[in-house]
Amino acid sequence: MRSEWTNEAAIRRWGASPRDALEKLDPDGDFAKRHLLNPVLLRLLGEVRGRRVLDAGCGQGYFSRMLADRGAIVVGVEPGQSMFDYARDKEAERRQGIQYVQADLSRLPSLGPPFDLCVASMVLPVIPDWTAAMRCCVTALAPGGIFVFAVNHPCFERLWPTWQEHACYRVSEYFVPYEIDGPHGSDFHRPLSAYLNELISLGCRLLEIAEPRLDPAAAAAGPDGVDAYVHLPNFLVVAAQRG
Ligand SMILES: C[S@@+](CC[C@H](N)C(=O)[O-])C[C@H]1O[C@@H](n2cnc3c(N)ncnc32)[C@H](O)[C@@H]1O
Repeated sequence: MRSEWTNEAAIRRWGASPRDALEKLDPDGDFAKRHLLNPVLLRLLGEVRGRRVLDAGCGQGYFSRMLADRGAIVVGVEPGQSMFDYARDKEAERRQGIQYVQADLSRLPSLGPPFDLCVASMVLPVIPDWTAAMRCCVTALAPGGIFVFAVNHPCFERLWPTWQEHACYRVSEYFVPYEIDGPHGSDFHRPLSAYLNELISLGCRLLEIAEPRLDPAAAAAGPDGVDAYVHLPNFLVVAAQRG
């Protein structure tokens, strides 16, 4: 890990995301989230009604709101200022009973009783100290609780722009961590084995690994270049059980 890659720097940058960009994610995320991530996350979490769910790194909170709409008791953790403010404003408007906590997932304060479920969607790749964050997600669960996380597929980083440029996927580095700059913050590439082995070292049992595929009909109606997701997986979603 490079010395300039710190949680604090990442949080500062994500937390300056402009409000209009956050508004665009309501009510159910962007195209990729709507078509690829949300259905798989919800399926892997299973029945959420009446269950205590931690939305780890909840961003502006759209997925927390989707979970609360389905009857979950939701705690959303988000350190970035603009995201946290947006999520809290939405809760003041909608009063779904979601509790938002402004905190770094790698140094999670006590959040009360253990959770039945924890979801971390597209969060671990943005956190420099991601192993501590994963440990906090797992230890926030009751034994037997389910942890579901989504990352950009480590074998196909920057799939969409690469596909748009070359009409196929190309990669020149995999083993060494590198930074992928984005409009509101960076992602950090790590090999697939890093995520899975860390989970195993935390005593978790892998339940399912999903590589969501875009329906060709949805791709035809979607933005340019999105047909990449019909052919290659943009996301890797992992479900595991705390031992
Ligand atoms: C790509 S966004 C995903 C947000 C949300 N889960 C979603 O799917 O819309 C990444 C989020 O992780 C948050 N984040 C960055 N560093 C974090 C940390 N150390 N702990 C918890 N969240 C962090 C960012 O502020 C941002 O809201």
